[in-house]
Amino acid sequence: MCIFWQAKKWDHFFHKIAKIEVKMSSKKMQEATRIIHAGRDPEKQGWMVNPPIYQASTIVFPTLEDLLYAERGYANNDLVKPYELKYGRYGTQTNFALEQAIAEIENGYNTFITSSGAAAVNAALMAFLKNGDHMLLVDNAYSPTRGFASNFMPRLGIDVGYYDPMIGFGIERMIKKNTKVIFMESPGSLSFEVQDVDAIVKVAKKHGIKTIFDNSWASGIYFKPLDHEVDVSVTALTKYINGHSDVMMGAITVQKKDFIAMYKSFRYMAVNAAPAAAYLVQRGLRTAKVRMDHIFKSAVELASWLAERPEVEKVLYPALPSNEHHKLWKRDFTGAAGLFSIVLKKKYSEKSLAKMLDNLNFYAMGYSWGGYESLILPIDISSIRTATKWPYGDKTCLRISVGLEDVEDLKEDLEAGFERL
Ligand SMILES: Cc1ncc(COP(=O)(O)O)c(C=O)c1O
Repeated sequence: MCIFWQAKKWDHFFHKIAKIEVKMSSKKMQEATRIIHAGRDPEKQGWMVNPPIYQASTIVFPTLEDLLYAERGYANNDLVKPYELKYGRYGTQTNFALEQAIAEIENGYNTFITSSGAAAVNAALMAFLKNGDHMLLVDNAYSPTRGFASNFMPRLGIDVGYYDPMIGFGIERMIKKNTKVIFMESPGSLSFEVQDVDAIVKVAKKHGIKTIFDNSWASGIYFKPLDHEVDVSVTALTKYINGHSDVMMGAITVQKKDFIAMYKSFRYMAVNAAPAAAYLVQRGLRTAKVRMDHIFKSAVELASWLAERPEVEKVLYPALPSNEHHKLWKRDFTGAAGLFSIVLKKKYSEKSLAKMLDNLNFYAMGYSWGGYESLILPIDISSIRTATKWPYGDKTCLRISVGLEDVEDLKEDLEAGFERL
């Protein structure tokens, strides 16, 4: 009896709530305010500031009507609604709160959160590609995105073409009758070229091709792909949104027209995120803009300083006015991530490079980026590209992710490193 009473009381938090259509905030507000309030609804959260962790595999339905409602949703695409409780694999209220927040920030209808950024990329691709299709992938895509395309697409009978990130309207020449997806990432991994997204979207729309944009660098905060009529925005929340180097997560944001296709891929690729991880990421989200703004400032200062160093041939960072991609970056972005690369004037041996990198105080070597701590990584770009020739040969390249340390310490540490080199 008591249990049933409890169930009725908590009904509010489960099925009834889940059936409510998503309310996007119609209030006009600045970006920093939106990031604080997006996806938060104290009433739905038991009057707690943060949505509690709802951890579940089984979700029980108090009435046959409720069960059949969910069942009909599975069977009939038109009845599927965002953010409905059905089964743990499709998310719980904790996931939905973060999904609503990201959807608001990226100006989309719906967001799906996934177990990693790479899972989000793969699920987005699988939503729109089938046997016999062709897709165009930017040459500087994150290497596991290339890895998925080169390892799995041929097995599925999907043809992949790689294009120059600077192609712009020229992409029209690469389109085939069966081209179904153009995948963009901008600024692209390791070398940070900025794509002319408006030109590519215009061509894609003319030919009825879906566009997917890896928005991890700007993290949905400094760039809004859907405002540029891109169909799908994919963001690795692992980076700045979580921001503390301890959670893997991705997000896929779409408009209503692509919701069902994306829902099917999310559901059958089974790429869901765990509620406890979603809880941590929504915590990170609330401070993401403040962290990114601070890092943006430090990164511009550090990159400008590096550009003057005698050891450095080129700084690959579109936020610098001297960078050839600065104009496009300024047209489309409201800020810059603290992730950029430098090309040194020559190729250094492993032994020399170790003298510099093994003894740094504040830059650890590690994959990923976007955390509160600075990172540095030797990178090899020349061996990855196939559509374009890397102009700097085998000269040593380093990728830097600027953290929240004082920029003077970051400069001093690198200065000492260059001396050891
Ligand atoms: C540009 C870009 N996209 C996607 C990903 C994948 O994110 P995750 O590491 O969460 O799988 C990364 C990871 O480094 C990335 O740099």
